[in-house]
Amino acid sequence: MFENIVKTTEYIKNNTKYNPKVAIILGSGLGDLVNFVEEKEEINYEDIPYFPVSTVAGHAGKLVFGKINNVEVLLMQGRFHFYEGYSMKEVTYPIYVMKQLGIEKLIVTNASGGVNETFEPGTLMIINDFINFMGTNPLIGKNDERFGVRFPDMSEVYSLELIDKAKKVADSLNIAYREGIYMACTGPNYETAAEIRAFKTLGADAVGMSTVPETIVANYLGLKVLGISCITNMATGIQKFKHSHDRVVETAKKASENFCTWVSNIVKEF
Ligand code: HPA
Repeated sequence: MFENIVKTTEYIKNNTKYNPKVAIILGSGLGDLVNFVEEKEEINYEDIPYFPVSTVAGHAGKLVFGKINNVEVLLMQGRFHFYEGYSMKEVTYPIYVMKQLGIEKLIVTNASGGVNETFEPGTLMIINDFINFMGTNPLIGKNDERFGVRFPDMSEVYSLELIDKAKKVADSLNIAYREGIYMACTGPNYETAAEIRAFKTLGADAVGMSTVPETIVANYLGLKVLGISCITNMATGIQKFKHSHDRVVETAKKASENFCTWVSNIVKEF
């Protein structure tokens, strides 16, 4: 894998003049942040050697380089989900590439279901910890010490320093946010009501189908991670109607203005 990552990174470096230290993975319905990027350079996933290709509706697959508020950034527009059939190594491949590109700080974002009943659709939640309920792990397999240690520490998976910065920025902009624990399931089905009651007991505030694999690998590689989740719906059993992906994307789009303002100001503080 190391050799593939080196080749992928070479290709990307040859196709951009930028050298960002900050990367952002955009979740469902949160792609509008690309409109905040100036002097954009885009690379389609399908053109990048060894890069997986995204398939889900609503997930464009490209890397976007440029500047937000004069800070060089790399945006991943479209991520790879385990439920699409990618292996955990494929899901997290871009994180290895980011590290090789010189990225130091990663903002992971997603759409999720609210398990904490004091949330409401549209709530923006700083992720302060996760519960991996995917039943697997992206670090399973022979360990390559060039990347990281065999048994990586996960005691501060979301950087307290970055959380503090995100809070200060939100307060200065009068953007409301909550804080909580993100629980990841594989999907692709939404959870049952019984599962959500169980997850609540386990301490989850939000539930979703992404982000945790990328966060694990980012920590393994020594990146600092900030996580922001958009609660697009209340989880099964709390919400009284059935789920629809269209509504998830629609609610995320509504919250997107605050989200974009917030994140574009956070990167200035990094
Ligand atoms: N469950 C899992 N993933 C989600 C949800 C949900 O309710 N909403 C958005 N992504």
